[in-house]
Amino acid sequence: MLILISHIGIGAVDLAAAFLFLYGLHRMSSPVTAPSGIFVAGIGMAVAVLASFLYAFDVGAAARPNLPVNLGLAVVALALGGGVAWWGGRKVAMTAMPQMVAIYNGMGGGAAGAIAAVELFGNKAPGAGALVMTLLGALIGAVSLSGSLIAWAKLDGVINKPVRVKGQQVFNGLVLLLTVAVGVYIVVASADKAALLLTMPMWIYIFFACALALGILMTLPIGGADMPVVISIFNAFTGLAVGIEGYVLQNPALMIAGMVVGAAGMLLTLLMAKAMNRSVSNVIFTNFGDVASTHKQGKIKGELKPTQPGDAGIAMRYAASVIIVPGYGLAVSQGQGKLYEFVKLLQAGGVSVKFAVHPVAGRMPGQMDVLLAEAGVPYDMIFQLEDINDQFATTDVALIIGANDVVNPAARTDKSSAIYGMPILNADYAKQVFVVKRGEGKGYAGIVNQLFYADNCNMVYGDAQAVLIKMIEAVRGLGLPAVA
Ligand code: TAP
Repeated sequence: MLILISHIGIGAVDLAAAFLFLYGLHRMSSPVTAPSGIFVAGIGMAVAVLASFLYAFDVGAAARPNLPVNLGLAVVALALGGGVAWWGGRKVAMTAMPQMVAIYNGMGGGAAGAIAAVELFGNKAPGAGALVMTLLGALIGAVSLSGSLIAWAKLDGVINKPVRVKGQQVFNGLVLLLTVAVGVYIVVASADKAALLLTMPMWIYIFFACALALGILMTLPIGGADMPVVISIFNAFTGLAVGIEGYVLQNPALMIAGMVVGAAGMLLTLLMAKAMNRSVSNVIFTNFGDVASTHKQGKIKGELKPTQPGDAGIAMRYAASVIIVPGYGLAVSQGQGKLYEFVKLLQAGGVSVKFAVHPVAGRMPGQMDVLLAEAGVPYDMIFQLEDINDQFATTDVALIIGANDVVNPAARTDKSSAIYGMPILNADYAKQVFVVKRGEGKGYAGIVNQLFYADNCNMVYGDAQAVLIKMIEAVRGLGLPAVA
């Protein structure tokens, strides 16, 4: 009776969790409803985790010999994992968010791999079909774990150069073949139970070692500028691995959550590849962001023309229209609040102000939207690349604040440039351009920006927040009345 009740209960609770995931995801499609969407999906996750405890009652007493110990271990693991995530989530800086996403993504892949390991070492997968699925989930999960850890190391600066050797792709192909061959051997040999017991653990270890090595080898040669796309691919991998293991365990919540994550990761990958005007295979197999290729860049014409923050601020106060291009440096300086304060001053003076957001500005998808939302910038002032790019040519001032690569005209004109072909914001077409940055530091792709040397461009050197404070003081100092 208890088994029947828990069986029905698990099904109902899993279904509720899946509904909460999907509804949460639906709410994440708009910045206005996204915070509540994240909350709803979080509740769904908590419900799914709690439901997993019901599985203990879903089998007869004989099948759960170590129940108190296992339940205790699960509670300790939950408390440890939940505690670390809570602490890390509260402490993490906005600029370190991509690293955190990479780590969590890797943990998801690792969890799927661990489920597969339990199934394989316990020889639980019934039949060749389930065994193949378990191995597939193990392969994808392990690749996602080790690849995401390398992506984390690259984003965090622990590894600061792509690691490339001749013939690497052929070698990677051979490691993939070896992994598949070991997997096939495990499936074939598992038909012979005697051989299985004697030799199988060793082959399972070899299989996991190859899969983990593959994730590392695949990610090491990829340039830093491609890490967002890579993390998104691994995100899709993790979802797929979790979904597959959910199928093996016949757990609907895992299946649905995994497939939703897998599909969302794949869509995000395609959108980001489109934003960079590259195919996904081009990201994985070519050397975008290669520092060496940046040296081929043609000679820079013109000179850098510094100006004072106050002068730039006053020029914008007297302009009719301003488009602001935020970038990674704004997040570093945490200057979003001061930026919006400055914008409100301009608006009070009758200046039309818009924000132009590039899809890969910052270090993670949507980072600029979140940053501006945090400062309270209304959503109708924020425009995506394709909706605003035509307006720069008729705009008085483009204010580039902490951005670099996303406004680099080399992407349009310089075939030898590492970012050639990536759509950029046409900030250089504005009548006047002000660029706020600390010095002559390059952007993420490590290339010089010809725009900074253009006749219509002035540099405003300093930390973005400090510069904005000076701009605000200068505009306030004018003592001009607000325009009704
Ligand atoms: P970047 O091209 O990286 O340029 C940022 C600029 O901000 C730097 O040139 C730096 O110059 C300046 N800066 C840094 N700290 C600053 C501060 N405190 N105050 C003022 N300026 C500061 O940024 P972007 O234009 O946003 O482009 C994003 C790049 O990152 C692209 O290449 C993209 O492919 C890559 N990427 C994107 C993502 C995603 S998904 N968004 C993830 C990883 C990588 P100074 O040092 O001279 O100040």
